[in-house]
Amino acid sequence: MAVQTVETTPFSDQKPGTSGLRKTVPDFRQPGYLENFVQSIFDVLAADQRPGGDTLVIGGDGRYYNEQAIQIILRMAAANGFKRLMVGRRGHLSTPAVSCLIRRYGTRGGIVLSASHNPGGPEGDFGIKFNAPNGGPAPEGLTEPIFERSKVIDRYYTLDTADISLDTLGETELGGATVEVIDPVADYADLMASIFDLDAISDLFANGFRMRFDAMHAITGPYAKEIIERRIGAPAGTVTNAEPLADFGGGHPDPNPVHAHHLVTEMNGPDAPDFAAASDGDGDRNMILGPDFLVTPSDSLAVLAANATLIPRYAEGLAGVARSMPTSAAVDRVAEALGIDCYETPTGWKFFGNLLDDGRITLCGEESYGTGSNHVREKDGLWAVLFWLNILAKRRESVAEIVRGHWRRYGRNVYSRHDFEGLDGDAAGRLMEALRAQLGELAGRQVGDYRIRAADDFAYRDPVDGSTAEAQGIRVYFEDGSRVAYRLSGTGTGGATLRLYLERFVADPDTVPEDAQQALAGLIDSAQTLCRLGDYTGRSEPDVRT
Ligand code: G1P
Ligand code: ZN
Repeated sequence: MAVQTVETTPFSDQKPGTSGLRKTVPDFRQPGYLENFVQSIFDVLAADQRPGGDTLVIGGDGRYYNEQAIQIILRMAAANGFKRLMVGRRGHLSTPAVSCLIRRYGTRGGIVLSASHNPGGPEGDFGIKFNAPNGGPAPEGLTEPIFERSKVIDRYYTLDTADISLDTLGETELGGATVEVIDPVADYADLMASIFDLDAISDLFANGFRMRFDAMHAITGPYAKEIIERRIGAPAGTVTNAEPLADFGGGHPDPNPVHAHHLVTEMNGPDAPDFAAASDGDGDRNMILGPDFLVTPSDSLAVLAANATLIPRYAEGLAGVARSMPTSAAVDRVAEALGIDCYETPTGWKFFGNLLDDGRITLCGEESYGTGSNHVREKDGLWAVLFWLNILAKRRESVAEIVRGHWRRYGRNVYSRHDFEGLDGDAAGRLMEALRAQLGELAGRQVGDYRIRAADDFAYRDPVDGSTAEAQGIRVYFEDGSRVAYRLSGTGTGGATLRLYLERFVADPDTVPEDAQQALAGLIDSAQTLCRLGDYTGRSEPDVRT
């Protein structure tokens, strides 16, 4: 089958953001748009001499345009000389499952199609990212050359062939390559079984423990059904909204108290189960709840670290931990108590990759409902849920008892993130620039009830390869140990989103209201005043509080 060379012209807007190239479906449907970006990846890989063979893993979260995009990529990958293309049945693979497959089969990498927790559908969002042979999102050393290539690309390679069926498992030849349609769940489920004590969790359910896992009609449904219902033996119906749908059933597959509000309501109701959890569009995020109790992601990371030796895979202890800059310092306190290193990285999972590969850390996480470990190189929603189940099976205490006990022992980092969405991009940029311009003069200034101790613009130097990342968000520290951080989202597709990260440490959790918004009220005022939020944006109420 002859390879076709198709002439094309560059698009100027293909710079990968926090997690790959994310645009609307209509953007991606422009002739050549997806093709240009995919060919830019392949051109950079062809020039890059790192090992990994000629196999690629390809899959996505099943959202609208997933399957058409996969057909385009399969033809292009074969035309570009890849020999083996592993695709999940129906084109489905969760993001952590892609990472698992790349590592297990030692492939050249993988292509993940997803816009994570953003809504799907014909007018919804779509995205693509390349994962490297370590299983993790391409580091900047790869994404920058891909972007540079996309600016000058003038041709792409493809084949003139019909679509191939992705509905049945097995192999098909495609222009010199073998397309292997694989069970999307099996390898990942085996990996989970090798990490956790599934028997202990089965025993917990056998004793009447009740759980709700809400897959939000996104990718984790089949994974959760297999692991939680079939392998562990939780009652049928434990996993709800389990069928992946192209538009996520009209929902917003973002596991937070706003978009998974029904779960919060259920957990605050009279017949709440013992434990509830949800994941996002592509399966890498997690939300953890107990009756009348929501675990913040920052606290969750700290609790997992403090209880890690209860899990078979981590029984020998942790090498170290890492958290993104905006994440609370709760895990830092656990690391200090354990005598292990704790790293603070920029936002985005790719920054954990080198620390994991180098064996410096075992667990890591972000405040944005992302938690993970060295078992793959992505954050992993179901893994976090199983980690909690394993802890609950061993400790036989409630979710709230475990977290409150943690606060009593380590102190509490009261935490909230406020998102101001749909802002005018210029106004949001000016707000940040104005803050940046004052950084040198902030120390000593009184803002409301809070006096500033220090402020900076977070810059990171990777301790493994020495690469640097500048301007990663503004951090303002106050005299009482509180902290506020300001940054603009790098994952949105329309307007700008300002994120305000608020954190206050209390040694004795009983001295403040348990509700974080109440406990943080004074700090919230000071944070808004300091950045002149109202002046720049006309806003004072966030769209989302997590
Ligand atoms: C958001 C989260 C960040 C996460 C990213 C990808 O990025 O805040 O922690 O790594 O999604 O899931 P942001 O929109 O803030 O750039
Ligand atoms: Zn995601």
